[in-house]
Amino acid sequence: MLLDAPLQRVVGRFVPVSLPPAGTFDGQTVLVVGATSGIGLAAAVHFATLGASVIITSRVASRGDDAKRHIEEAAGPSRKGDISCLELDLERYGSCTSFMAELKRVLPGPASLDVAILNGGIVASHWEESDAGWEKTIQINTIGTTLLGLLLLGWMREGRDHRKAPAHMTFLSSREHLYPDLDRLVTWSQRNDGILRQVCSKENWPGGFFDAEPNYAVSKLLVMYTIEEISRLARGPNGDPLVIVNSVCPGMVYTGIGRNIASRSWFHSLCVYLTLIITAKTADSGARICVMAALKPKENHVSCDCIYTHASTVLS
Ligand SMILES: NC(=O)c1ccc[n+]([C@@H]2O[C@H](COP(=O)([O-])OP(=O)(O)OC[C@H]3O[C@@H](n4cnc5c(N)ncnc54)[C@H](OP(=O)(O)O)[C@@H]3O)[C@@H](O)[C@H]2O)c1
Repeated sequence: MLLDAPLQRVVGRFVPVSLPPAGTFDGQTVLVVGATSGIGLAAAVHFATLGASVIITSRVASRGDDAKRHIEEAAGPSRKGDISCLELDLERYGSCTSFMAELKRVLPGPASLDVAILNGGIVASHWEESDAGWEKTIQINTIGTTLLGLLLLGWMREGRDHRKAPAHMTFLSSREHLYPDLDRLVTWSQRNDGILRQVCSKENWPGGFFDAEPNYAVSKLLVMYTIEEISRLARGPNGDPLVIVNSVCPGMVYTGIGRNIASRSWFHSLCVYLTLIITAKTADSGARICVMAALKPKENHVSCDCIYTHASTVLS
């Protein structure tokens, strides 16, 4: 129904999802990718408060140190687990592989990682190319996130025989994955150089004044497809998931992710501000949705706890 989405957004803004009981994550280790601000930082606080040892990632050591201090203070003296920070830049393939090597070094084995939250992401208002030659939103939100998901999955699968229950891998999706122009994507997919090259091309970057986040929706749609593939790879020989893979859309959350849109012009700045003030929930509330996703049973494997429709439904 047309009113479903706005209604759920308003309800989500004023009625936060309940957290599980204290001690739910006692003795567990949770990885939160991109936890220096916003939803990732708030999720790290929740997991630490609920008993987990938390590994956060940051591109810049000083930001990671600040986040670590914030989590320790916010979780308080009753915190049971450790907080540590590893360096990771989803924009660089080398950083993803060296992060994985470091993660394997600091943890005793694959069975010791209980939850991975793949949260890092950006919104870009201006076209910028990554070192690898892709547009940056696509590089970080789609390619880097997929690479990291695959690296983590390969390792976490190995741990299944040594665990009572499967570990969890949760991706931060967005309802905006429903917005891309599908006819245009289908046309691009038929060209020789493929859909990714077309999506990343500067010529195809919309120049319109009102479209302030041109590739964000596409980056989130493409990653929905890779999450489906990762979910398939996560199944064992009998079809049961060795790692429970799911994705969540937290709805609109008041964070700094719109900073690039706001910096475009006073008009965009005002729009971002008003939209956030009226409809957005707090990072604490948005992060609760990630925490609950990390507790879902295997029946939730491949599902998207998006208040909107799943990508495959839209494109089928
Ligand atoms: N806010 C919303 O309304 C909303 C709605 C739906 C989905 N989401 C999704 O939720 C996730 C978190 O967003 P947020 O709103 O919390 O934004 P945010 O406050 O800007 O946080 C983004 C996080 O991603 C990290 N990050 C950025 N670029 C990175 C890179 N190249 N490599 C590794 N980490 C990187 C940032 O760390 P640095 O310190 O390194 O920059 C930061 O910790 C995103 O995936 C976003 O798409 C947000």
